[in-house]
Amino acid sequence: MGAKTMSRSHYGTFPRVRLRRNRADPWNRRLVAEHRLTVDDLIWPVFVIEGQGRRVEVASMPGVARLSVDVLVEAAREARSLGVPALAIFPIVPTERKTPNAEEAYDPDNLMCRAARALKAEVPGIGLFCDVALDPYTSHGHDGLVQNGRVVNDETVAVLVLQALALAGAGFDVVAPSDMMDGRIGAIRDALDDAGHQAVRISAYAAKYASAFYGPFRDALDNVGLLKGDKTTYQMDPANGAEALREVAQDLEEGADSIIVKPGLPYLDIVRRVKDTFAVPTFGYHVSGEYAMLKAAVANGWLDNDRTVLETLLAFKRAGADAVLTYCAIEAARLLQARAP
Ligand code: PBG
Repeated sequence: MGAKTMSRSHYGTFPRVRLRRNRADPWNRRLVAEHRLTVDDLIWPVFVIEGQGRRVEVASMPGVARLSVDVLVEAAREARSLGVPALAIFPIVPTERKTPNAEEAYDPDNLMCRAARALKAEVPGIGLFCDVALDPYTSHGHDGLVQNGRVVNDETVAVLVLQALALAGAGFDVVAPSDMMDGRIGAIRDALDDAGHQAVRISAYAAKYASAFYGPFRDALDNVGLLKGDKTTYQMDPANGAEALREVAQDLEEGADSIIVKPGLPYLDIVRRVKDTFAVPTFGYHVSGEYAMLKAAVANGWLDNDRTVLETLLAFKRAGADAVLTYCAIEAARLLQARAP
């Protein structure tokens, strides 16, 4: 807030100035609203599981379930009919298919690829995001390959490239590397282009923090017992802000089409700085732990669900986010539809 733009001489003082006048009526509040949440701002993360006709609730995320492909297709149809622009899909991989080197991640017939083919065939027109990271597929739960007790960078990038190629080949529109290895955006971009996937977008989780707020997501993936240690050697330190700008700059130089900041609410300062610094499409991820906190408070009668959901998502917009990945996407879309004039 610069003294220049906020000086009294520019804006006047009370009692001539009364800021409450513009808040006095609903029509006036509508006219002066600076930001608006619409269904166009929503990306819906969903969990896919093997089998048929399955809906397996996630205990720590009330209202969120892992869906088999056929059930996911129905859910996607509903999302599309509500106007939600895109889904972000995450797989639950059976333990027996998890390996130290995550071979399942680039099998062109893996669950993710089958889900993408089904969705593209049956629900065309809705955008499909997928994570590029190895944690659903590794027996140790890390996003990369582990050698001598360390997550190794370049060897991991080589596997991420294979994973991105398989996902793009199956029909995903946007690959979203969430692994935080160095150099993966450029490597993936080159490989996609060489394979004729110039149209496939890369949304880079450029600023992804080593966060406690991912707990319920790891619960959903059944990864909770697997991960030994933490992800602090590759995900960012929550203490750092300027470093996020370096990460974003690097990913943009390597060809990222959009940037994801994650987690969301506790990191809206990063969303704002990224948007102001780079002026590129910027998405915020309202992550599993944030969702769990909200729903737990609602379940206790401590927060009003609908108002809290909409206020939360609007806060992302005010911070500069162009869209929000949120497990609340469907309920938010319904609320927005009900509120429409
Ligand atoms: C995996 C990944 C994670 C999330 C999205 N992709 C977890 C992690 O990094 O451990 C978390 C999303 C959420 O908590 O909602 N790379």
